[in-house]
Amino acid sequence: MTLKNEPLLASVDAAIQAYCTAEHHFAFNPAAPVVRLHEPSFGAEEIQAVVRCMLSTRVTMAEQVKKFEGEFAQSMRASHGVMVNSGSSANLLAIAALTNPVTPDRLQPGDEVIVPALSWSTTIWPLIQCNLVPVFVDIDPLTLNLDPVAVEQAIGPKTRAVMIVPVYGNPCDMTAITDICRRRNLILIEDCCEALGTTYEGQPVGTFGHIGTFSFYYSHHISTMEGGICLTNNLGLAETMRILRAHGWVREVQNPQPYYDQNPDIDPRFLFVNLGYNLRPMELQGAMGSVQLPKLAQFVQDRRQTATNLRVGLEPYADRLLFQQETPKGRHSWFGFPLTLRDAATFSVRELRAFLTSVHIESRPVICGNVALQPAVKLYPHRIAGTLQHATHVMERGLAIPSHHLMDAAACDYVLHHMQSFMDGHR
Ligand SMILES: Cc1ncc(COP(=O)(O)O)c(C=O)c1O
Repeated sequence: MTLKNEPLLASVDAAIQAYCTAEHHFAFNPAAPVVRLHEPSFGAEEIQAVVRCMLSTRVTMAEQVKKFEGEFAQSMRASHGVMVNSGSSANLLAIAALTNPVTPDRLQPGDEVIVPALSWSTTIWPLIQCNLVPVFVDIDPLTLNLDPVAVEQAIGPKTRAVMIVPVYGNPCDMTAITDICRRRNLILIEDCCEALGTTYEGQPVGTFGHIGTFSFYYSHHISTMEGGICLTNNLGLAETMRILRAHGWVREVQNPQPYYDQNPDIDPRFLFVNLGYNLRPMELQGAMGSVQLPKLAQFVQDRRQTATNLRVGLEPYADRLLFQQETPKGRHSWFGFPLTLRDAATFSVRELRAFLTSVHIESRPVICGNVALQPAVKLYPHRIAGTLQHATHVMERGLAIPSHHLMDAAACDYVLHHMQSFMDGHR
């Protein structure tokens, strides 16, 4: 249904704008200081776009999602975008496509995939769900990303792929990683769920390998409430992902005709050519994405400014705090600001976090620490390559403090003032 009643729509838009102006105050308020890990990236414009979808009654995946997929893929200089309902779903869909029988030279059950030990749960679970074996390698303690030397050393006869994670938006060493993948004939999957807006030598991360995935969860660089997307330059993988995303039917593929021709007796609307899930996003999410995407560059710039302010202010404590180092040739997008306590620090992360909480500054572990130490991993086949000492160290001695686009100079000063008073009191 197209929206025709312009006067009523204008009053809906005006009411949303008035509500947001009156009630949405997420910027730092020195009179009641709170610094959260994330603040919403959206406002009246996005809510208006979502409400318009609801008013049109066209809410399930259709034109808005398709439009956003095209805009996103184009902005990332990729050929195909397949939007889904979360970043976790994007990882699942990517791995499901790469293991699917229709994919040439597909990943087979029991094949190994190298992953960084410092990663997220749903980086790993899709590998296990698709009968692959994760091989955990250690990180570089400075960049917090998987160490290319550890990757090379971990390769065994069953290794077929590498799944990388640009931690907190810091690009991996793509020169080394793509070189290893080319020489050792490995499939490259990029979980960029916390790295939207990150580039390496000017190229967006998520476009170096076979498939790149992104998250648009509430707290991420841009948000569609929940949401995610897979990017690929491979038409076959894109078509398979479109089929697996929704029930295994062919409705959303770019070129359905061959399927219709091969199955003339089956209603094309209900033609199932593969297995499938329901990982579809809603129109509301597509519409919101189209409003958010043009704002990404500014959000990333603001996050970079925040990170610079924090880094400069905390520099005097570099004897006890280890900062994440931006990868050479890379442009970090600062999903947050990770810190690791050096051996010279006489206090624990727990003490620092308790202090920050007491002054209303949120903090959290860096991703989920060494994911190989999480109890769920022990239930399933996996391999651990090396000691994973650096990922474990980050789990025991690391934390992330806020660094987002709404942190102005006053918010940074507030964080720095309290960090400084804690550090000065713990010599
Ligand atoms: C590296 C990584 N992968 C996957 C995800 C999952 O994304 P989502 O929360 O959209 O499911 C996250 C979540 O933040 C993440 O950090």
